[in-house]
Amino acid sequence: MAVRCGVGLLLAAVLLGFIQTSSTLTFQVSDRSGKLCLSANFIMEFTVEYSTKTKKENTTFELPPDADVIKNASVCDNTTSKEILEVGFGKGHSLKMVFERNASLYMLSTLVLKFNLSDSSRFPNSSGELKEETRRSGIQADLNTRYLCKSSRSITMQNMSILISNVVIEAYIVNGTISMNETTCSEDKRFSTVAPIPTTGTPSTTSLAPPVPSKNPEVGQYSVNSSSGLCLLASMALQLNITYSTKNKTLKSEVLNLPPNATFSGKCENLTVTLNLVTGSTNISFHFGQNVSTEVYFLQSILVNASLPSEATEKHVNAFNDSLSALKGTLGKSYKCVAEESILVSDRASLNVFNVQIQAFKITGDKFGAVEECQLDENSMLIPIVVGAALAGLVLIVLIAYLIGRKRSHAGYQTI
Ligand SMILES: *[C@@H]1O[C@H](CO)[C@@H](O)[C@H](O)[C@H]1NC(C)=O
Ligand SMILES: *[C@@H]1O[C@H](CO)[C@@H](O)[C@H](O)[C@H]1NC(C)=O
Ligand SMILES: *[C@@H]1O[C@H](CO)[C@@H](O)[C@H](O)[C@H]1NC(C)=O
Ligand SMILES: *[C@@H]1O[C@H](CO)[C@@H](O)[C@H](O)[C@H]1NC(C)=O
Ligand SMILES: *[C@@H]1O[C@H](CO)[C@@H](O)[C@H](O)[C@H]1NC(C)=O
Ligand SMILES: *[C@@H]1O[C@H](CO)[C@@H](O)[C@H](O)[C@H]1NC(C)=O
Ligand SMILES: *[C@@H]1O[C@H](CO)[C@@H](O)[C@H](O)[C@H]1NC(C)=O
Ligand SMILES: *[C@@H]1O[C@H](CO)[C@@H](O)[C@H](O)[C@H]1NC(C)=O
Ligand SMILES: *[C@@H]1O[C@H](CO)[C@@H](O)[C@H](O)[C@H]1NC(C)=O
Ligand SMILES: *[C@@H]1O[C@H](CO)[C@@H](O)[C@H](O)[C@H]1NC(C)=O
Ligand SMILES: *[C@@H]1O[C@H](CO)[C@@H](O)[C@H](O)[C@H]1NC(C)=O
Ligand SMILES: *[C@@H]1O[C@H](CO)[C@@H](O)[C@H](O)[C@H]1NC(C)=O
Repeated sequence: MAVRCGVGLLLAAVLLGFIQTSSTLTFQVSDRSGKLCLSANFIMEFTVEYSTKTKKENTTFELPPDADVIKNASVCDNTTSKEILEVGFGKGHSLKMVFERNASLYMLSTLVLKFNLSDSSRFPNSSGELKEETRRSGIQADLNTRYLCKSSRSITMQNMSILISNVVIEAYIVNGTISMNETTCSEDKRFSTVAPIPTTGTPSTTSLAPPVPSKNPEVGQYSVNSSSGLCLLASMALQLNITYSTKNKTLKSEVLNLPPNATFSGKCENLTVTLNLVTGSTNISFHFGQNVSTEVYFLQSILVNASLPSEATEKHVNAFNDSLSALKGTLGKSYKCVAEESILVSDRASLNVFNVQIQAFKITGDKFGAVEECQLDENSMLIPIVVGAALAGLVLIVLIAYLIGRKRSHAGYQTI
């Protein structure tokens, strides 16, 4: 157990390190009626070659967390059938993505990068402006599907190249709701078991209003079945934590406890299990995946749609994370965790799970299989065990000291 724990901690440290160095950024565009029409998450790295007075230099940097949608330049215009996302960052740098569609698919047709070479923090000893454009990105997907690509893709231009990875993009979103159908890029298909990469949103720099106090949610019972029996059994208490910006530019968090009587539905498929929960205007969809070779199932993606209070600048929040590896259990066994687990969906939404017992795919009869405790619970068990062991050790030492002392004094009597 101690070894497993050590490995767990090491893994957590490695993952945290990863999270700190690369973060997936989310950009969203709404149409004139306020409905979400374009959503993009990705990690992007630029390599730019520029000239100083004496020589040429290469510089490499990531799209920084201050990158934000330039609202008046980002549009979903149905008259031209083009959708444009423009993102600005740093001192006057920008990235523009133009999407086009035909009757069956949409594609990232043009990518325009503009750098302000007068920004000496990124381009020391250079000046002027550098703009490049490419019409070949290779990113395309079926209409009404999300484009998914965890693998990195390099797009080369004349004086620069970009490396884009962990991509989740959907353009021409139908009804303001990100599709649960997906188009996976060919690079990801080559590796049948791509290890899920944890992603995290970036906290906004604006100040956060104090969190709303809330009591813990009640435990709800959920199940999904098909003609061949149950494929999902879950008992869990769920709490949604949504962060939104208000009209006066402060960030606020709203915590919503899901009532145990939320309506649920779902679908059993050979390699995925879906659970949809609906309560009021809130809609949460869970996708479970499995890794056949390691016989493990896990929560792979969460989609959250919720309406926001009237003081928020946006009407809805539409958050999605497809690179999760949460609630992980061995096929045929159930995953159990009493401790609270927080699952990050985006920089604007997270789901807190309490008191969970869950099992996906292989379920015998209508009962949970053998229990696998989560690491958090095992760790909290570990503390009393360590304290107990320390106490037992202490008692033993005292006892030995006492016995030695008794023997000495006995020997002392004999010498007299
Ligand atoms: C910058 O990188 C490109 C591509 O890797 C390379 O062709 C070029 O020679 C590099 N330039 C300098 C000055 O290192
Ligand atoms: C967008 O707004 C900025 C100022 O907020 C302005 O400088 C810029 O010209 C506008 N761009 C477009 C395309 O309207
Ligand atoms: C564009 O959208 C508006 C309102 O959303 C609608 O009235 C119009 O018919 C649409 N045009 C096309 C070409 O789809
Ligand atoms: C480019 O960078 C310089 C130096 O940081 C800054 O003064 C200037 O305003 C920037 N240009 C734009 C268009 O932001
Ligand atoms: C859409 O464009 C793709 C790629 O250009 C092409 O293969 C496909 O046939 C087009 N579909 C329709 C319905 O025009
Ligand atoms: C910029 O140029 C100055 C002198 O022209 C030089 O001393 C300095 O090292 C250069 N900085 C970089 C980062 O190349
Ligand atoms: C989109 O909304 C319309 C009306 O609000 C509805 O009839 C239609 O079924 C919805 N389509 C999808 C894919 O949800
Ligand atoms: C999306 O999924 C639904 C149901 O799962 C299916 O009926 C539909 O054909 C799918 N659409 C695409 C474009 O794959
Ligand atoms: C909700 O999210 C905010 C921002 O991420 C965080 O500061 C806060 O502690 C969270 N609250 C709960 C109850 O999870
Ligand atoms: C912003 O609005 C909230 C309520 O909507 C209020 O509590 C807060 O004091 C306001 N902040 C500022 C800086 O006006
Ligand atoms: C769910 O329970 C709440 C009280 O806990 C009740 O007000 C509400 O009507 C119930 N909803 C449904 C759909 O049964
Ligand atoms: C699902 O599994 C069943 C039984 O193993 C098989 O007959 C069926 O073809 C599979 N379906 C898909 C879509 O792989």
